[in-house]
Amino acid sequence: MSHLHYQGHSVESRDGETVLDAFLRAGFDIAFSCKSGVCRRCMMRSIEGEVPDAAAAKLPQRLRDAGYLLACQCKPVSDMVLTPRSLEDMVTTCMLMQVDEQEDGNPILNFEACTELDFHAGQPARLVGESRESEPEMVLLGHHEREGWIQARLMLQGRPRPPWMSDPDAAFGAEFELRGPFPSEPASEMPGLAPDPSLWAALDDGKRVRAVLETFYRKVYADPLLQPYFERVTMDRVIGKQYAFLMQSMTGEAVYLGERPRNSHHWMVIPDSIFDHRQKLMLDAQREHGLSDDLIERWSAFEEHFRPDIVKYSPWPRRIGDQVVDTERYDTVRLDEATVCDHCGAEIDAGTVVRYHMRLGKVSCAACSGALNVTS
Ligand code: HEM
Repeated sequence: MSHLHYQGHSVESRDGETVLDAFLRAGFDIAFSCKSGVCRRCMMRSIEGEVPDAAAAKLPQRLRDAGYLLACQCKPVSDMVLTPRSLEDMVTTCMLMQVDEQEDGNPILNFEACTELDFHAGQPARLVGESRESEPEMVLLGHHEREGWIQARLMLQGRPRPPWMSDPDAAFGAEFELRGPFPSEPASEMPGLAPDPSLWAALDDGKRVRAVLETFYRKVYADPLLQPYFERVTMDRVIGKQYAFLMQSMTGEAVYLGERPRNSHHWMVIPDSIFDHRQKLMLDAQREHGLSDDLIERWSAFEEHFRPDIVKYSPWPRRIGDQVVDTERYDTVRLDEATVCDHCGAEIDAGTVVRYHMRLGKVSCAACSGALNVTS
């Protein structure tokens, strides 16, 4: 018997049973179809535990290396923590048909996908490149009127084009890979979940919540993938906010004064894989504090519920009602009082005009802002 964990839920597998059958028996909402290792609909990723060879044998090496398996082919040999597929790992091979040049330098690619590509107009995707961080964005536009090719605008934004499309006339038939497509920003924010006051009571009226959060954020602040998001945020502040948010969510009492998850994370690019990684650290912290599977499942529901407001592949603007507030830019201000440069610590006199970042609030002195000069 192995203990299987999936998005906050747990189930014990039975002798000879596959992961898919165990999940279906327990009533987990899992996509599946052929159950014979062909269609790949039940493909998922293991982030803890051993993947039996037979469970991944039919997958390409790239996916095997990332921990992917087919749930219908996986008879567990150890406890496992499993997550759904991450969109950033999903790559489709495409064949270029035509390049339509555009005045702004962001060409429209007309192409055919070698396997089915399910998308709707406006969805972002990326052109697979050398490193994930530098992959140019594409916006999927729809289909070519006559030819039926898929059309996407390649957002080069002044960057050089990949070598295979440097001569648009010779590019016909070139193969490239497309990552995604990724979800566009949802039109509305997630409403809150119904409270679960008996959960709060079972967590010692919040004492165990605070203890778990302290362990969890110690892990987050020491974690190379998550720590960068928390630059300039103290651990005490984030624990306090998270505690109040969970207390309000679980008890229904109005104690949380912070922003809703969508706005507080609006600028953070958090792909599914990072969200899953966070949830794994949370699970580790909850287990270290001896929480039962039932308590973990009920707590996780309050976090998983907000995944659509937090997971994103490019930043979203901050929204207040119908208003869009653009915080991801610089502005200038004349200082009423002297201050110090946030980059080198040099003094900046009162009356100086400085550039500052709207969200971070960081100011630069004349030496640090270089060409974008600051004047007195
Ligand atoms: C990988 C996933 C996540 C990352 C990287 C992340 C990161 C952060 C960061 C950096 C802050 C501090 C923002 C600030 O004070 O300026 C924050 C705040 C917060 N996060 Fe998350 N978070 C994640 C997932 C979640 C989840 C699953 C929830 C629960 C629904 C959540 C709820 C909150 C709340 C309530 C705040 C306080 C908002 C405020 O500033 O008022 N976060 N998060």
